[in-house]
Amino acid sequence: MLIELTQDGSNTIFIPEWNERYHSKNGALQESIYVYIQNGLLHLQKSNIQILEIGFGTGLNVLLSLLYQKFDTQIIYTTLEPYPIPKSLYKQLNYTHLKNLHSLHQVFLTIHECKPAEWIGIRDNFQFIKHLIKVQDFETTQKYDLVYWDAFGPRVQPEMWSFELCKKIHHLLNPGGLIVTYCSQGQFKRNLKEAGFKVEVLPGPPFKREMTRASK
Ligand SMILES: C[S@@+](CC[C@H](N)C(=O)[O-])C[C@H]1O[C@@H](n2cnc3c(N)ncnc32)[C@H](O)[C@@H]1O
Repeated sequence: MLIELTQDGSNTIFIPEWNERYHSKNGALQESIYVYIQNGLLHLQKSNIQILEIGFGTGLNVLLSLLYQKFDTQIIYTTLEPYPIPKSLYKQLNYTHLKNLHSLHQVFLTIHECKPAEWIGIRDNFQFIKHLIKVQDFETTQKYDLVYWDAFGPRVQPEMWSFELCKKIHHLLNPGGLIVTYCSQGQFKRNLKEAGFKVEVLPGPPFKREMTRASK
């Protein structure tokens, strides 16, 4: 796995064997803010928000959720990651050298180095837990308001966009709950509909035509 610089000056990770990146090469930061924060977190009208992230990866979505959290909201953030990246790699990521994210350097290390399956209070109004498992194996009675569906694309990981997973995520959401993702594959959107979601196709981040938001 290699660290790459994307168009907006933020890093991503490139997997040469798969020819797949953790984020868009046109701008990792820009894409994550647009898809997950602008069209997800900031779109929700709720003061107490249970977030589930599929694919912790670099931790960028956690940092951005902290950065954009409204002061009068409470976030309870659960992230899933079966293949955590090694320290040698995350230490090279430049996110906390970027404007606005400087103050989150210690948090960045904490979310990568914390014990799995243990709650930590990052702030009074931001609780965080990381499970080192696949979403397919994740069992809980908790219901979520917002899912950041940030798996690798259907070309390399078709099982992450399947009807079975759509059904599972639908079951994990509260009524009115949302999923947001960069992925806008036709089969995925059909799977979401069949699983009971109302699907919205939104304009994509720069250089990408579409993204998907769906609600229960
Ligand atoms: C496109 S990357 C994005 C990660 C992250 N959100 C970020 O911004 O860096 C996809 C992530 O999903 C993880 N992943 C792969 N299979 C998974 C599974 N079955 N369940 C949950 N996460 C998975 C990968 O290891 C990788 O970290």
